[in-house]
Amino acid sequence: MNRSFFTLVPLVLVFSQIAFIADAAEQQVPTFTMQPIGQVQRTEGRTLLVLDEKYQPGLLGLDGWSHVQVIWWFDKNDTPQRRSILQVHPRGDASNPLTGVFACRAPVRPNLIALTLCKLVSVEGRVIEVESIDAFDGTPVLDLKPFAPGLDLVQEVRVPDWTRNR
Ligand SMILES: C[S@@+](CC[C@H](N)C(=O)[O-])C[C@H]1O[C@@H](n2cnc3c(N)ncnc32)[C@H](O)[C@@H]1O
Repeated sequence: MNRSFFTLVPLVLVFSQIAFIADAAEQQVPTFTMQPIGQVQRTEGRTLLVLDEKYQPGLLGLDGWSHVQVIWWFDKNDTPQRRSILQVHPRGDASNPLTGVFACRAPVRPNLIALTLCKLVSVEGRVIEVESIDAFDGTPVLDLKPFAPGLDLVQEVRVPDWTRNR
């Protein structure tokens, strides 16, 4: 056997060991499974959140609240490229300062979770009518939580200057 064999074999072993450790590290990142509970439907000027039948029991009592926080998925941006974006000019306006996606409400982010506070119009069966939502027709809805002033309202807030550039 020549000398290059004895140089190459240990190198291959070292690299395969590194690849194995990297794989193991990747597998240790927890992943979470989610399924949409329903979807946004815009029809005849109305905005509906239509839930899958099996989730209807979860709506019991929702009609006692005036507002609901709708958690939904930016499904139109579900590509590795868009999910790797970490900084944007908010509202797509280059005059707004470069801002981290965790410091604004950009529709691109690693986990495409969106949150909209909606005024409830009615809850009938598995259909919730809301006054409006900034989600496209067909958008997957992940969760609903009632807006509870005692938990969700703060008296004094501070916001960056760019939020006032409208
Ligand atoms: C700036 S984001 C804010 C969403 C939510 N209120 C939040 O703060 O997480 C709202 C915009 O997302 C975009 N959008 C709506 N539905 C979407 C979808 N299903 N996938 C990707 N983008 C969507 C629309 O352009 C909409 O104006």
